[in-house]
Amino acid sequence: MVERATAELLGVGSGQAHTSAADRPAAIEVRQAAPELSVVVPCYNERPNIAPLVLRLEAALAGVGWEAVFVDDASPDGTAAEVLAIAVSDQRVRCIRRIGRRGLSSAVIEGALASSAAFVAVMDGDLQHDETRLPAMLALLRSGAADLAVGSRHAAGGDAAGLGSAWRHRLSELGIRVARAFLPVPLSDPLSGFFMLPRPLFDRLAPRLTGTGFKILLDLLLAAGKGVRVVEVPFVFRPRLAGESKLDLLVSIQFAAVLIDRLFRGILPLRFLAFACVGAVGILVNLAALGVFTKLAGLGFEWGQGLATLAAMLVNFELNNRITYRDQRLKGRKLWQGRALFVLVCGFGAIANVGIAGMLYRRHAGWTLAGAAGAAIGVVWNYAVSATLVWRAR
Ligand code: GDD
Ligand code: MN
Repeated sequence: MVERATAELLGVGSGQAHTSAADRPAAIEVRQAAPELSVVVPCYNERPNIAPLVLRLEAALAGVGWEAVFVDDASPDGTAAEVLAIAVSDQRVRCIRRIGRRGLSSAVIEGALASSAAFVAVMDGDLQHDETRLPAMLALLRSGAADLAVGSRHAAGGDAAGLGSAWRHRLSELGIRVARAFLPVPLSDPLSGFFMLPRPLFDRLAPRLTGTGFKILLDLLLAAGKGVRVVEVPFVFRPRLAGESKLDLLVSIQFAAVLIDRLFRGILPLRFLAFACVGAVGILVNLAALGVFTKLAGLGFEWGQGLATLAAMLVNFELNNRITYRDQRLKGRKLWQGRALFVLVCGFGAIANVGIAGMLYRRHAGWTLAGAAGAAIGVVWNYAVSATLVWRAR
């Protein structure tokens, strides 16, 4: 039976073989069922945690057909090599290695889409999530009691003790409160990175995910709307033993960006919103620097404003390079070229801004309208041109 299937697959004896024998693999074993559960593990610099995690999954998932899909973004510590070393002798372990990319959410999305299991779990690769809760989550989905099982640190019986510092606790609580205001379903831990869902549900939601930042669960919940039945499974968030957390201020900003994107219902591209926010920061920098140059340093107004504008452009470039275009961040020689080009582009943007505003003002449009129109033209120009010239999509 297997041999016949193999022969059909190769087109042997069916008269459809147009390729030569050398083009085809020597033999294909086709009847290997997909596992029931795929555990997708995003990882960046988690080398020492990989082998212990595989052992823990093995113990926790005895009796379940499972696989672990590690999605690594070319970690410098050799995480991918570590996964591959285990995968050589363990079919259940797979590695997706992404080059020139970063991002937890997009790593999770690609890992989940690469699996062919009936259920997909997402779990951190640093041993902070309690793998012994996986069978309980799977049971909820198998029985149909839930469409989505979420590991919660805040449901009764759960604990967020492993969140290192006091400020991480506060940041997490604030994030949860903000996220809840947006959510269609009540949930005690919408920022959890530990959850499980049926693969078809993931497939249905995937095209609507933003893929930005850390909060993949939040993104899924927003895309799912009211219809999904979510059940929380309490777990204790363990402290991190090896390596360090990648959650920083920039990640928090991206989190805010995902929510803002939902507010605008995706009409304006997320990047443009980020670019505009950075522009708003630039105005503050410009005013502050103008004050310093004219009041403290005693420069004349024109000189002061000129230098303040330059300072604002340089700060904006830095912020855009780190936040708006984090995924295609310029480095080394390209960084200097980009910086110079950005100043040039924004210089033209400023000329357009002042020109349009002046024209409208002379036509009695009122200074607020004239100013706002000028600023809008300026930011659209800066965005459009710098997106194509400075941070050219590679
Ligand atoms: N592939 C890939 N690419 N993986 C990444 C990246 C990335 O850019 N950034 C982080 N990871 C991996 C880490 O290696 C780890 O396995 C997992 O994603 C979580 O990252 P941590 O840096 O350990 O996050 P955390 O412990 O601070 O945050 C956890 O708690 C948050 C709530 O407070 C995570 O579970 C978050 O998802 C959760 O929102
Ligand atoms: Mn962690």
